[in-house]
Amino acid sequence: MKVFISGNIAPVGIKELEANNISITQWKENRQISPAELIEASQGQDALISVGPNKINAEFLKACSHLKVIALHSVGYDNVDVAAAKALNIPVGNTPGVLSAATADTAFLLMLAVSRKAFYMHRKIIKGEWKKYEPAAELGIEINGKTLGIFGLGKIGIEMAKKCIGAYNMPVIYHNRSRNEEAERALGAKYVSFDELLAQSDVLSIHTALTPETKDKFTLGVFKQMKPNSIFINSARGGIHNEKDLIKALEEKIIWGAGLDVTNPEPMDPENPLLSMKNVAVLPHIGSATEETRAAMAQIIVKNILAGLKGQKIPFEVK
Ligand code: DGY
Repeated sequence: MKVFISGNIAPVGIKELEANNISITQWKENRQISPAELIEASQGQDALISVGPNKINAEFLKACSHLKVIALHSVGYDNVDVAAAKALNIPVGNTPGVLSAATADTAFLLMLAVSRKAFYMHRKIIKGEWKKYEPAAELGIEINGKTLGIFGLGKIGIEMAKKCIGAYNMPVIYHNRSRNEEAERALGAKYVSFDELLAQSDVLSIHTALTPETKDKFTLGVFKQMKPNSIFINSARGGIHNEKDLIKALEEKIIWGAGLDVTNPEPMDPENPLLSMKNVAVLPHIGSATEETRAAMAQIIVKNILAGLKGQKIPFEVK
């Protein structure tokens, strides 16, 4: 059996595939494979491990209807036309659960980095601009006891809430399509309307999937409903906030700061004004990038691939 991998996965995944006599072809270039290259590379393969935001759309699926299984190297599947895959009987698997803690760590890291202008201050040292101890310049804001607002209280949102409660005793409010009463009991989180979430959050952290409903949800009008000293964190998908509007909201001090692990597009243009703002921290989509989490993701991917190649139900199939 043959598998094409459109990038790198943790070595444990490669070893397990090889131990199962699967022949591997891998995309090794230091750029995302293009849609046409992905179609070409998938010919003659039995399965695809999709690493990165490849468009697994109707066009790809039609050209690659021979695939027995597609395993995503992500929990998010906004890049997949799930209905088209189902229609062609190609199971698509993702990696839920194992990356929740690491991704929440990234959101937490961004929250702290923004609150203390950490990335900007680090850049100042590198530029030789640290001249003396400054007790009154570039002060941050404290997080302790501030209200955490979660947009999308699923597995990752819950992990973020737990960290913020444990570290800073933050009251948690959230907005979802439907209430998560179990999480409310476990966290003492309060369900609020979207408008209330905006009005009451000191830190607003996005943990929802990118869907037609959440695409471009955070526009200038929405930022204007947030507190002027609030921090916006997005470690979910860059398409959920409107980047031009976010830049405007920061430039006009409509909100205090922003931390992003996801951008639109990715990679971000190095000239992007967000990268030189004081109250902004940007990371290159490293939410799940720990050795432990990436190994766990690779093991789930292998399970999905092996089951799919045998024609069995794959254990982590996107719904
Ligand atoms: C995920 O798992 O969805 C990560 O954001 C990587 O795409």
